Amino acid sequence: FDSGALAGLRLVITAGPTREALDPVRYLSNHSSGKMGYALARAAAEAGAVTTLVSGPVHLDTPAHVRRVDVESARDMLDACQALVADCDIFIACAAVADYRPATVREQKIKKGGEHSSLKLIRNPDIVAAIANGTPRPFTVGFAAETQDVVDYARDKLQRKNLDLIVANDVSKADLGFASDENEVTAIWRDGASQLPRATKHNLARELVALIAERHASAGNR
Ligand code: PMT
Repeated sequence: FDSGALAGLRLVITAGPTREALDPVRYLSNHSSGKMGYALARAAAEAGAVTTLVSGPVHLDTPAHVRRVDVESARDMLDACQALVADCDIFIACAAVADYRPATVREQKIKKGGEHSSLKLIRNPDIVAAIANGTPRPFTVGFAAETQDVVDYARDKLQRKNLDLIVANDVSKADLGFASDENEVTAIWRDGASQLPRATKHNLARELVALIAERHASAGNR
């Protein structure tokens, strides 16, 4: 554990979905299972990193030698990440964070009414952008889940969120991306890219960790 590609480095990885409460019994969320983020945490620990997972609600066991902080909402996740960022060399945002939350959380269960109903939503904070634009600033890796123009949208997010690397994930295919055991991605950084073909999330995570270690080192961090 002390000789891997990430030996001596501290990693924080977000994983899973967030839940945005509507009332005491309901929430808005998404299909993220946490598998990709947990596979990254396992691979990072195997590569020698001191690894912390900031996890939304998932049904997965914590990988060996990984510390886990459980959160529910996007705002909880932001608070947990900001508390960890002072002791973090590399931050990886793999969570599927809700972009919006209900504008108000009702204290009592919402009663059924007429035929139509609507919800007012407000923007959640962008966690990875907050980390990438804060101080201290770790080497920051984001994911981009897209259903079309995957690489173009990912490049745009890399710049807009001020990231060091982004992992573009085409989530338009039912058997890849969200909740599946396999994935295929393109890792993109300012002056390069690398396509990682279809593989189990565990194998892909090992490749991504190796690539992140290399990019982190060549960005002058080692
Ligand atoms: O969990 P699994 O079932 O294994 O599925 C894996 C995955 C498909 C969820 C994962 O591989 C993935 O693509 N995660 C990112 C999902 C996502 O929300 O992408 P996005 O394009 O909406 O967000 C872009 C980046 O900003 C992501 O790094 C995201 O974590 C981050 N973000 C987004 C919104 C927000 N409010 N705060 C954020 O930090």
